[in-house]
Amino acid sequence: MNLFNVYPLYDITPVKAKGSYLWDKNGVEYLDLYGGHAVISIGHSHPYYVEKLTEQLQNIGFYSNSVNIPIQSELAEKLGKLSGCEEYDLFLCNSGAEANENALKVASFFNGRKKVIAFSKAFHGRTAGAVAVTDNKAIVAPINYDEHVTFLPFNDAETLTANVTEETCAVIIEGIQGVGGINVASDEFLKAAREACDKTGAILILDSVQCGYGRSGKFFSHQFSGIKPDLITTAKGMGNGFPIGGVFIAPKFKAKHGMLGTTFGGNHLACAAAVAVLDVMKEEALIENAAKMGEYLFEKLSKLEGIKELRGRGLMIGIEFEQPVDKIRDSLLFEHHIFCGYAGKHTLRLLPSLAITQKECDTFLQALEEVISVTA
Ligand SMILES: Cc1ncc(COP(=O)(O)O)c(C=O)c1O
Repeated sequence: MNLFNVYPLYDITPVKAKGSYLWDKNGVEYLDLYGGHAVISIGHSHPYYVEKLTEQLQNIGFYSNSVNIPIQSELAEKLGKLSGCEEYDLFLCNSGAEANENALKVASFFNGRKKVIAFSKAFHGRTAGAVAVTDNKAIVAPINYDEHVTFLPFNDAETLTANVTEETCAVIIEGIQGVGGINVASDEFLKAAREACDKTGAILILDSVQCGYGRSGKFFSHQFSGIKPDLITTAKGMGNGFPIGGVFIAPKFKAKHGMLGTTFGGNHLACAAAVAVLDVMKEEALIENAAKMGEYLFEKLSKLEGIKELRGRGLMIGIEFEQPVDKIRDSLLFEHHIFCGYAGKHTLRLLPSLAITQKECDTFLQALEEVISVTA
């Protein structure tokens, strides 16, 4: 059997990883400024994470959501504390798309409405509801097309206010757009969304799958604006590579047995991974490190010649160039052995582990300066 060929691949085969580094099958070392797409939050194969997952697996790896699984409550308690969101309830699932799917359902169950407002360049995942609110026709199958979804311009508070009505079920916003090119939702925009939802009974959903979990220098990027969403979705960094997602659900929503559910969501191993991630984030002050290293990178990058625009917050950074970014990205990867992401044709996307060091940032900065001077 062949694999269904949907991923364009680099011809690199990583076989080992530690901290911010990967090694391929030929022993070549790579610096990871991409974090496997914002997933590696505490660093690859952190010893505490490996120990906790191993210990859990030796005891019990899985049982269904029909029995007590105390590590779920441990996760919820630690997550509530570290995120400053103790008043929310937590629903556990397996991925970012699933988290958004469930958030949209909770919103619609609550107010009985269907219409959703999403934004230009939004990406919320590939399952039916999540892809319907994603602004990319190429990945929306006819069966997913949803006439109830309206896309408005991102960061346009006035248009948002004018379009949220008593018929709106939910407004879904990425605190910082990832796939869309690292666009930070402005405080004004988020406050206007909160106000419009309060006035009309619509539900405000903050998709924090990529920009959440400490990456912005706060636990959630919308916390810079002071607003409180009704629902917050997370995944990626939550398990440092072990699949897990979650929906933070405000107190006004009342749970009913059977209302949501999943076979794998909240299993023992996934929760052990997520608890280990939170323990390390707290112990090693990784949110503070993300803020500090983010500031360092922004300061140094802003002095480099040849960059058109810098966007982002903390360790979620978009570097836009006049020229297409593929040569820069390839040269960083194949000549300097540094993994970076990209968004669109012109933007390099940095999503390193929250534990990245200044020395590792310097290695990247030096390589980028060299690459820009050669490719310009
Ligand atoms: C903002 C955002 N939401 C949702 C998703 C979907 O997450 P997953 O791939 O885990 O389903 C992504 C993935 O890139 C994302 O960036």
